[in-house]
Amino acid sequence: MTPGTGVARTVAVETELHGVRLHPGDRLFLALGGANNDPEVFPDPDLVTTEPREVPNLAFGTGAHRCVGASLAGAEIATLARHVLDRMPDYRIDRAAVVAYPTIPAVAGYIAMPATFAPSPTVGSVDPGSLPPAREFGAAARLADTVR
Ligand code: HEM
Repeated sequence: MTPGTGVARTVAVETELHGVRLHPGDRLFLALGGANNDPEVFPDPDLVTTEPREVPNLAFGTGAHRCVGASLAGAEIATLARHVLDRMPDYRIDRAAVVAYPTIPAVAGYIAMPATFAPSPTVGSVDPGSLPPAREFGAAARLADTVR
């Protein structure tokens, strides 16, 4: 998985990369998503696992600017997954109805990923009037209509 599809860099010194001459000031887009799907390095790139991999993937970048929030992001994702699975252990994604972004923008994702699950009792208390309007969902639904 590669949420951010790549990072940009500016060439600082004259160099050559895979036979291409690069000059100071040239701009590069390093496609982390593509690298994470390199079959020579990641034979099973779509496998989601909590086990450490032999070669860590590049979702959090690499080198001097590797994501400083990587550990926090990992903890947030684990917490989110735990709460979702606690509340909706039987949820099933309707794979046939999944709609990916029509193009690959800076952040990869899906326009629609419908799922079914048995409703569980409400936890905690939220005043529905205090919630902001569901603008995001409306925008995503309209976009989904344009690409079907
Ligand atoms: C799934 C969540 C996240 C992903 C996929 C992600 C991904 C990345 C990537 C690929 C870079 C490298 C950028 C580059 O090389 O130009 C980066 C840098 C960075 N990330 Fe994250 N990140 C995530 C969450 C977070 C969080 C939660 C924080 C802070 C609380 C954070 C803070 C930063 C900062 C400050 C940098 C810049 C580091 C530097 O330039 O030295 N990130 N992130």
